[in-house]
Amino acid sequence: MSITETFFTESAHFAGKHVHLAVTGSVAAYKACELLRAFKKAGLYVSVTVSTGAQHFVQPKLFEALGAIPVYTDSFGGTEDCFAHLEPGTRAQVFVVAPASANAIASLAQGRCDRLFAAQALAYAGPLVIAPAMNPKMYAHPALQQNLKTLSERGVMIVKPQTGVSACGDEGEGRLAHLAEIFWTSLKALALQDMTGLDVLITLGPTREHWDSVRFLSNPSSGRMGMSLALASWMRGAKVHLVQGPGVEFPTPQDFQVVPVQTAKEMYQAARELWPSMDIGMFCAAVADFSPVPYQNGKSKFKKQGVTGPFQLTLQRNPDILLELANDRRPSQKILAFAAETTPDMESLVNLAQEKCKQKHADLLVANRVNPEETTFGSLNNQVCVVNAKGCGEIWPLLNKTEVAWRLCTWLLQA
Ligand code: C5P
Repeated sequence: MSITETFFTESAHFAGKHVHLAVTGSVAAYKACELLRAFKKAGLYVSVTVSTGAQHFVQPKLFEALGAIPVYTDSFGGTEDCFAHLEPGTRAQVFVVAPASANAIASLAQGRCDRLFAAQALAYAGPLVIAPAMNPKMYAHPALQQNLKTLSERGVMIVKPQTGVSACGDEGEGRLAHLAEIFWTSLKALALQDMTGLDVLITLGPTREHWDSVRFLSNPSSGRMGMSLALASWMRGAKVHLVQGPGVEFPTPQDFQVVPVQTAKEMYQAARELWPSMDIGMFCAAVADFSPVPYQNGKSKFKKQGVTGPFQLTLQRNPDILLELANDRRPSQKILAFAAETTPDMESLVNLAQEKCKQKHADLLVANRVNPEETTFGSLNNQVCVVNAKGCGEIWPLLNKTEVAWRLCTWLLQA
């Protein structure tokens, strides 16, 4: 998935905020252009500094062409404005160094201002995000690790590199993190931390119920709504625990706890184990209500030979995960439930939502229509009706799922 198609690039939530992006000397410097595009798409104002090292790999003009204003270069004492080192500091709300080379990290850790981006960082008091990228041997070196520790202790947000093969062919930890994670971390730095200290359980995606060793019953849920809720909660400071159905393959921040499951029963087991230590449960998964009694215990493939007419599968009820956990809740635990219904119009959805909110003991219930002509499965947008435990409801306009998620977190905190 390209970063510009990922979560929160469509959200107007951060529009108008100012990010300063410093690009330093690494083969991954070209990736900063994609990061800039994502910031621009999300409506952020972006200024850029391209260090001398980075200019060996990318031209400053490219950042200008992609909409960065201004683009500073490292000609400190040259043609730059004599106060260029102070400017981002007075305007930017987040300062992102991506990629951050070993040299850049050393400069930041020691507070050196031998290069323009480092002087700019020194003259800046707001949140700093750095995304290291370098050869795995350099990354593993104690000197580098010590510098990272110093920065982390100072409150710098470090987006850890990925493990893989680096440009030179060496294998290990050092590849620039997934761009989406750098993007989301930058937005997190801008967000109000009103979910700090909360553990949030989110069930998401479909479940698969096998009726023989290779065939299953399922549904087209993409997990997009659940992932939007997960990212919104995380950006606002929560610790996120996902119990995730099959086929949900979005990149996630590295500190998400993810339990992958296949069936409704597995989802129930995983959610049940986590639930006692959670503060919030968001039950977003499109759980199969029934599972077939599998042919030969699911050990072999059912043969069609000899079957000429219809044949029957026997279905049995699956546990209602949300209801079971809601029955076991502590009074302080909050529950967000979903309902997907086919209804003639949004108004009739409100009545259904009110009933279901009571029936499921939820604090908030979000209902959306899944009529064949306008299903929200897999789409970027969602029109929902939201009701609370007191029966008060609202129909929201068609919104991007990330915006729906952001608003739901706000409502849930107040519920
Ligand atoms: O009863 P219904 O399927 O409409 O309820 C939908 C809500 O219940 C959703 O929040 C869904 O995640 C949850 N659910 C569940 N376990 C099931 C069925 C639904 O947790 N077996």
